[in-house]
Amino acid sequence: MAKSIDVSDVNIYYGDFKAVEGVNMTIRARAVTAFIGPSGCGKSTFLRTLNRMHEVIPGARVEGKIAVSGQDLYDSAVDPVEVRRMVGMVFQRPNPFPTMSIYDNVLAGNRLNSRKLKRPDADDIVERSLRGANLWNEVKDRLNKPGMGLSGGQQQRLCIARAIAVEPQILLMDEPCSALDPISTAAIEDLIHDLKDRYTIVIVTHNMQQAARVSDDTGFFNLKAAGQPGHLVEFNPTKKMFTNPDNESTEAYISGRFG
Ligand SMILES: Nc1ncnc2c1ncn2[C@@H]1O[C@H](COP(=O)(O)OP(=O)(O)OP(=O)(O)O)[C@@H](O)[C@H]1O
Ligand SMILES: [Mg+2]
Repeated sequence: MAKSIDVSDVNIYYGDFKAVEGVNMTIRARAVTAFIGPSGCGKSTFLRTLNRMHEVIPGARVEGKIAVSGQDLYDSAVDPVEVRRMVGMVFQRPNPFPTMSIYDNVLAGNRLNSRKLKRPDADDIVERSLRGANLWNEVKDRLNKPGMGLSGGQQQRLCIARAIAVEPQILLMDEPCSALDPISTAAIEDLIHDLKDRYTIVIVTHNMQQAARVSDDTGFFNLKAAGQPGHLVEFNPTKKMFTNPDNESTEAYISGRFG
């Protein structure tokens, strides 16, 4: 089941450095939320706090509250491994496991998370996930070939298949198309559109057209100056953000006058 995320007064640190400050937002279930903003304003940092990946960096910490359907992700009773299963992540560069087959790449997360899978169950998960990632037809005859043998766009869809194989409720994507050609980018955007019926999706992108095409809501992050923490300037429905933003700096960024 897709879930909403409520973020209240979040500050994010790397040691003494405050990278992100004072974020409040509600990320809606079964919708796509895009984060935009200039390099270094903390988009990736903030995204990683949504599945507790930030805290694996030595000295890194988070203040404030991030609740998924009411449950505080940072509550001491919550297991971070379970959080990362519920909140999947796809990175900028496709990162299939190089020595693993396509088949085993899809199951890599399941094998980390659970006991041994029975073969028919494993086959089902592989097919369902590859179909979900719109890759099945291209790879069904070569499931035992290495994942690294796929094109960049196929590798990225393989990584999406791997992320959805564990049946997450939320999918985080950090610039998932930045290494892809326009055709693969269009395939991923179509896929994002299909997936939002079932998942809550958050995507970081530097491509304004992409944010406008794929997202329902958009958050614009910015920095007051180099070395200052990033902050959320504006969070609004994408249509409004791209036609009539509340903030002048949002308008300037979207229209390409800075950033
Ligand atoms: N592992 C880290 N240790 C220390 N500082 C970091 C670390 N990762 C990021 N930072 C700093 O945190 C700030 C925000 O970085 P972040 O990568 O979140 O920005 P971003 O908005 O994703 O940028 P880009 O658009 O270039 O990907 C930057 O000042 C960056 O140098
Ligand atoms: Mg980034």
